[in-house]
Amino acid sequence: MALSRFFGRGRDETPADAPVTDEEELGEGDTPTGDAEPEHAPERSWHERAEAILFNGASTGSKRATALYGDAFVDLPTHFATARGATIVDVDGIEYLDCTMALGAVALGYAEPRVTQAVVDAAGQGHVSALSSWREVELAERLCSIIPCAERVQFLKSGAEATAAAVRIARASTGRSAVIACGYFGWHDWCSEATGVPAGVRQDLSQVPFDDVPALERAVSAAGGSLAAIVLEPVVERAPSVAWLQRARALCDRAGAVLIFDEVKTGFRVAPGGYQEVSGVTPDLASFGKALANGYPLAAVVGRQAVMDAARTTWISSTLAGESTALAAALAVLDWHEDADICSTLAETGAEMRAAVERAVAACGIQGVTFDGIDPMWLMRWSDPAREQRFVAHAMREGVLFKRGAYNFSAIAHDEAALRDIETAASAALVSVLEEERA
Ligand SMILES: Cc1ncc(COP(=O)(O)O)c(C=O)c1O
Repeated sequence: MALSRFFGRGRDETPADAPVTDEEELGEGDTPTGDAEPEHAPERSWHERAEAILFNGASTGSKRATALYGDAFVDLPTHFATARGATIVDVDGIEYLDCTMALGAVALGYAEPRVTQAVVDAAGQGHVSALSSWREVELAERLCSIIPCAERVQFLKSGAEATAAAVRIARASTGRSAVIACGYFGWHDWCSEATGVPAGVRQDLSQVPFDDVPALERAVSAAGGSLAAIVLEPVVERAPSVAWLQRARALCDRAGAVLIFDEVKTGFRVAPGGYQEVSGVTPDLASFGKALANGYPLAAVVGRQAVMDAARTTWISSTLAGESTALAAALAVLDWHEDADICSTLAETGAEMRAAVERAVAACGIQGVTFDGIDPMWLMRWSDPAREQRFVAHAMREGVLFKRGAYNFSAIAHDEAALRDIETAASAALVSVLEEERA
């Protein structure tokens, strides 16, 4: 895996193009990049302090202790001090290989030197001002040359915001309200059934099952002349049939509705241009986030000019949407995609990572575990959720963090040594699960 030499696992090696960290080379106004240290031996653990002060213990749902480990959580790590390559070091100084890569937000590797340098440069130049950054224009132009449906762009900060913006634009453009959706789109009201969302908001949304053409057709008939948009997450735990995406395209064309792909996970992971590039089905609008800026907070809604023009008739804006450290990170990510076939390497690496865990499962003879997903984002399915929790907990004690359910995400930083360690840790964890049951 030739690319791994650039990304490293973050344990020992300093990549040749590592960012400036030597204080002598930092000029006046430059930002030192030394690691801030967590306090040693706090009276209460970071987990206890987090539970006491943060809603459910963490601001990102999937990073809550119960989400990470379920009921198997007993003194497993919840807070990190540093993350480099594919390695995170927790607040007690213990290293773990990460197979979750910040929920797929990081495809190159943590603290990837070229991205970090671009961010440091942008921060040093002043990352916001009264005017927009030139980087916003350059990045928008480059995205339009990469993403099939992109003729116009608006930047935002999170995937949920970008997809909500796409839906708003579709409604503004059609003057209609009904939306048919399949997938996860974040926490915003338009797509949420959570407590606190007024019932009226939900009335205009119908959810359809993944890759089910008849169900999609029925939902479109039911929406009739009020259909504004079909919003699809193109990959939900497996690849879709192209026929489903094509049917969605045809149904939107016939109804005068807008087809939206949520490419927040698939963009710059399955292909730079997302699943629309892979499938050949071009939506009218699409949302991107996560790997676009290798984990820096940036998202974009992109699409055909004729539809995006409707954004002018509504109001979509955010104070820090054009903040330039994240734009700089995304420009560095695009440079990487120009210089190397990042997405093919992510697919190869993900396939090898999954194969390593499959070998561990086969070798120990455990039953009730199957594998799903696509190469760069794969998952284990356990028939017994309690066993899955114990596996994840044991694997963490062996030094590897797996995701319960969807997804484990590959990164360029998962090199051959990391893949070997992943297999070793998975094997040891599976043996511990079986031994516990025999005891
Ligand atoms: C497909 C998809 N869309 C939207 C979102 C929401 O993105 P964010 O969490 O950045 O708001 C996610 C998050 O996981 C996602 O996977």
